[in-house]
Amino acid sequence: QKTFKITVLPGDGIGPEVIRQAIATIKEVEKKYEYKFELSEALIGGCAIDAHGVPLPDSTLEQCKNSDAVLLGAVGGAKWDTLPGHIRPEAGLLAIRAGLGLFANLRPAIIYSSLKNASPLRADIVKDGIDIMVVRELTGGIYFGKRGRTAVEGMGEAAYDTEMYSVGEVERIARVGFESAMKRNKILTSVDKANVLESSRLWREVVIKMSKDYPEVTLNHMYVDNAAMQLVRNPMQFDVIVTSNMFGDILSDEASMITGSIGMLPSASIGAGTLGLYEPIHGSAPDIAGQDKANPIATILSVAMMMRYSCGLENVAKDIEVAVERVLEKGYRTGDIVSEGTELVGTMKMGSLITSEISK
Ligand code: NAD
Ligand code: IPM
Ligand code: MN
Repeated sequence: QKTFKITVLPGDGIGPEVIRQAIATIKEVEKKYEYKFELSEALIGGCAIDAHGVPLPDSTLEQCKNSDAVLLGAVGGAKWDTLPGHIRPEAGLLAIRAGLGLFANLRPAIIYSSLKNASPLRADIVKDGIDIMVVRELTGGIYFGKRGRTAVEGMGEAAYDTEMYSVGEVERIARVGFESAMKRNKILTSVDKANVLESSRLWREVVIKMSKDYPEVTLNHMYVDNAAMQLVRNPMQFDVIVTSNMFGDILSDEASMITGSIGMLPSASIGAGTLGLYEPIHGSAPDIAGQDKANPIATILSVAMMMRYSCGLENVAKDIEVAVERVLEKGYRTGDIVSEGTELVGTMKMGSLITSEISK
């Protein structure tokens, strides 16, 4: 009997609330199947700054390295917004992604058939469903390039951030994109800004070279501005999107909303091994924190991704995803996806509805 070691990082804001429901999901899986999950919590983000003065204590990173998977809620909040950049909660998130070597972030945007009227897009645009996998580069680009302050003659103080990608970095993320497309509908859209940025031109060259290894995959290139527009014009044209750290951050929030809500989108951050970090794509949502309003589905679906990618338990992953689908079909909704004729429930109720569906 296999025991999986999971480090749980609740974080700030709604993080602890949605994580509580995700933990309940894991406990339910334990009851139903013969797998064991050893959960241990640690600090990251604002709560780590409060306790230790840093957003990612060494002990947290060590604990994560010694785990099979990491489950994270969200970090950040107004309280820490005026701290210098390197000790903000968000810096802890970047440090854990880099520290664990998790260069690929998978963000699946799926529209559930019962949620079609939660999408802000017209019914005729979403009628045949949306199923997009955003593959976001996660440990490079402008998030990690040189940044600083300087001064510009006659213009005063200035600040800069640098977008830089190496061939190796693009190769490994492009490979994740192509491999993902091979398992799906074999259409890969590489999103860049190659009409302006040198880093994007290199990105495109590398992706084109690699496409020779994947003759079955139809490769398209799209500028990011057009991609943002195409996502709302005709999202069904997309299968897998592969893109840089910042473009992926922005486009995945957009993709989440066309499926109904950012509260629905999970993510998996993976690297060379099986250790992965699983987190909703949303943030700490300070505006609704502590009110039992947050949608826990993104985090619960992140648990499903954890079962799939780090634990190798595809059947459990499916079980969780089907449970979510059934609860939605029965008409239960948190505030972010509620509509006429559906029943509004809180975070805790949504979590328990899903766990009781899993137990069946
Ligand atoms: P956010 O994602 O926290 O919230 C944006 C909007 O979406 C808010 O109106 C919020 O109420 C809503 N929302 C988010 N998650 C929801 C959920 N599960 N259910 C219902 N509604 C939900 O983004 P923001 O407001 O730009 O950022 C708030 C803080 O979170 C900032 O400190 C930011 O840096 C941080 N942040 C952290 C992460 C992360 O930890 N991965 C991601 C994004 C933002
Ligand atoms: C996300 C968040 C983070 C990012 C921030 C909080 C650093 O927006 O996980 O999408 O930009 O990667
Ligand atoms: Mn984001």
